[in-house]
Amino acid sequence: MRPLVAEEEDLFPSTPGKFKTDHHHLHRHHRHLRRCFASTSTTFLWALFLIALTASYLSFQSLVSSGNRLLAASWGGIQWEKQVRVSALPRRPAGLSVLVTGAAGFVGAHVSLALKKRGDGVVGLDNFNPYYDPSLKRSRASLLRAQKVFVVDGDVNDARLLAKLFDVVAFTHVMHLAAQAGVRYAIENPHSYVHSNVAGLVGLLEACKSANPQPAFVWASSSSVYGLNDKSPFSEEDRTDRPASLYAATKKAGEEITHAYNHIYGLSVTGLRFFTVYGPWGRPDMAYFSFTRNILQGKPVTIYRGKNRADLARDFTYIDDIVKGCLASLDTAGKSTGSGGKKRGPAQYRVFNLGNTSPVTVPEMVSILERLLGVKAKRREVEMPGNGDVPFTHANISSARRELGYKPTTDLRTGLKRFVKWYSSYYGYKYNQGKSVH
Ligand SMILES: *[C@@H]1O[C@H](CO)[C@@H](O)[C@H](O)[C@H]1NC(C)=O
Repeated sequence: MRPLVAEEEDLFPSTPGKFKTDHHHLHRHHRHLRRCFASTSTTFLWALFLIALTASYLSFQSLVSSGNRLLAASWGGIQWEKQVRVSALPRRPAGLSVLVTGAAGFVGAHVSLALKKRGDGVVGLDNFNPYYDPSLKRSRASLLRAQKVFVVDGDVNDARLLAKLFDVVAFTHVMHLAAQAGVRYAIENPHSYVHSNVAGLVGLLEACKSANPQPAFVWASSSSVYGLNDKSPFSEEDRTDRPASLYAATKKAGEEITHAYNHIYGLSVTGLRFFTVYGPWGRPDMAYFSFTRNILQGKPVTIYRGKNRADLARDFTYIDDIVKGCLASLDTAGKSTGSGGKKRGPAQYRVFNLGNTSPVTVPEMVSILERLLGVKAKRREVEMPGNGDVPFTHANISSARRELGYKPTTDLRTGLKRFVKWYSSYYGYKYNQGKSVH
């Protein structure tokens, strides 16, 4: 600071002696000028100080965020942008260009592969969080890489990343499958559901509505939104205002949030209520998966029972059937009507059940696994704790049948047979094949 002040004194000498010969008027003018400059210089110095402070704060911030990026996920750069662009490029006439979130997840990986296989462009996005064994997610991502699907390592909550992706690619569709799944884990980590299923969803919708052109938005809701509904089968028009778990509540919130974005910004929205999806490359936190592991390891399987010792039942839906429903949803989705954050007209809003329409009880599912594995399960029957599970699910799919041509074709035995085959090859298990699989 001092040199600056000294310099100013030198530039504007005000020693009265130096100006003795000047007119009084001129001298006064100079004094005024000097006061004026002195106060200007103080302001200037303060401004300089504030600018320096802001600059150092900003550089610290960018240091922290780039540090975070280096630690957590890395994206950006010319090479990265090229990979994104090439992966998004359709290989068939009028092919789609789809951003698939949760691409290293169970449904996400299968949908990405199916899209790629028929010649659509696919860019995956996944944060590889450790809710379940991330090495399984990495294996799925390797599968995608082998089919030339690029999976971005990042989070739907990262607004800068999403803006960059939409900047690099004019996606025609977004298939949003990233979510915090599982019903019981919400007791342990409730905020994780809000972070992924609410905040992450809003982050992605913000990016979609601002994109030009706006993509059509297809996303995974859940059969759990039916909650305490006991009218069977579940139809899309049934009550969904009595969720039995936080997971269900965040999925229901998602249906309402997407409706608001559809209404305000003209985003085309399709919500898919999945019914207990299972199959090869499935999620280890699901019962059929952990039961298989426990049966093979000779550990007991815990089977919940409802009120009056009633068996729980699920409308188990095979992954290939779900994938067909997802692709049909993308193909029949209307265009979003807005652009750059402005609505230009009403846009499509749809909700579909994607189930199998034939519920199977959990003890029956265990029996099927026993027969396939050739091992008797150690069954431990326990009364269902009140932690969010519902006693049964059963989909009415007449709407998806009509609008999407959706037609599930895989029964539980056939689907579990394929799952067990994958499981034993993936984990290197030898089970009594002669007796069971053939
Ligand atoms: C299934 O849903 C449709 C409406 O999409 C309805 O007309 C039909 O009655 C429902 N079927 C049953 C068995 O509830």
